[in-house]
Amino acid sequence: MTTRTFERRIRLGMVGGGQGGFIGGVHRFAARLDDRYELVAGALSSNSERAAASARDLGIKEDRTYTDFADMAAREAARPDGIEAVAIVTPNHLHFGPAKAFLEAGIHVICDKPVTTTLAQAKELAEIIEKSGKLFVLTHNYTGYPMIRQMREMIAAGEIGKLRHIQAEYAQDWLTEAVETRGAKGAEWRTDPARSGAGGAIGDIGTHAFNLAAFVTGEVPDRLYADLTSFVPGRTLDDSANILLRYKSGAKGMLWASQIAVGNENALSLRVYGDKGGLEWHHEAINQLWFTPYGEPKRLITRNGAGAGHAANRVSRIPSGHPEGYLEGFANIYSEAAEAILAAREGRTPSPDVVYPGITDGIAGLAFIEAAVQSSKNSSWMQLDC
Ligand SMILES: NC(=O)c1ccc[n+]([C@@H]2O[C@H](COP(=O)([O-])OP(=O)(O)OC[C@H]3O[C@@H](n4cnc5c(N)ncnc54)[C@H](O)[C@@H]3O)[C@@H](O)[C@H]2O)c1
Repeated sequence: MTTRTFERRIRLGMVGGGQGGFIGGVHRFAARLDDRYELVAGALSSNSERAAASARDLGIKEDRTYTDFADMAAREAARPDGIEAVAIVTPNHLHFGPAKAFLEAGIHVICDKPVTTTLAQAKELAEIIEKSGKLFVLTHNYTGYPMIRQMREMIAAGEIGKLRHIQAEYAQDWLTEAVETRGAKGAEWRTDPARSGAGGAIGDIGTHAFNLAAFVTGEVPDRLYADLTSFVPGRTLDDSANILLRYKSGAKGMLWASQIAVGNENALSLRVYGDKGGLEWHHEAINQLWFTPYGEPKRLITRNGAGAGHAANRVSRIPSGHPEGYLEGFANIYSEAAEAILAAREGRTPSPDVVYPGITDGIAGLAFIEAAVQSSKNSSWMQLDC
């Protein structure tokens, strides 16, 4: 990732991500990696003691430690040194409220996925973003990987020809048993429709696979047929999903998202086939991309190695062979966001190289979830409303 000089770090706030929270810590690493942000304020937990203790751990001053995100948005907006951007890392049902509050207070938003719990809310948020004139970044972090950028560049350049088949998979096994009934906090809200939304595995990890397929191909399917299952007794949301996809271009796809696939940790993979070649990428071999021009031997493209192009190289940090991974990919989204925020601060347009997921991706993700739930219920093909 090439860095440029800047006047001062972006003042960042955080909602969620207190002690015991998972993704908030990852966001903080990601924000620090290229040294563009400084965390100065937070409403890190709804529990006031935990919020205060978590803020102390992170060196956030007492007068910028909040227990309520609405209060934080109002008070930060009123300060001359108030935050310029906020990271929202709360469970899904607590994305819309904070995003609205900070955007309306004139603060850029970096939010985790899925963007909201309903498609209607995602669309409403799009209007709020538009009205605010502020930036909205959705952390579909896997789009930050160099080999994913490489895949995208090669497909756009026609290197595998006209797209025929897209195979996207995200398999985990941590919900194989009813851990939500045994005090696993992250599992509790993820299996509760009121806090997670209508999707279980499809919302939590299916949206990542769906987004990744759209990011590399530049296409969102217009129809799908889903078979969703809750294998674990007592669970209301899906824990495994098999989905067929159809694209307007004539391409077809399959998406498998499962949290009960024993033996899988974070097995995200993407295979894309065109009439001239194929591309294959697996999260667990993150720095490698297989490219097969039809009729020729398979070629291995590596991060920062021979064959990697501009889009991949500009988001790589270290020489080939040294592994880069999850945190660097996440940091690439933060650094892309920083480029956009700095450009906004300076009243210019960011370089066209700068790409990050936003509200359009969030809407597509919710359209995917809602169409999948409906399709599985009705045993019929459904149109995606996005
Ligand atoms: N991009 C990714 O790879 C990725 C990975 C994991 C989770 N996520 C997403 O991140 C979000 C959080 O997931 P998680 O696994 O970190 O959950 P978590 O349960 O581990 O953490 C949630 C945090 O939010 C805090 N919180 C809850 N209500 C709050 C409130 N009203 N005000 C302030 N803080 C509050 C909790 O105290 C906790 O610190 C979810 O939307 C999830 O889908 C994304």
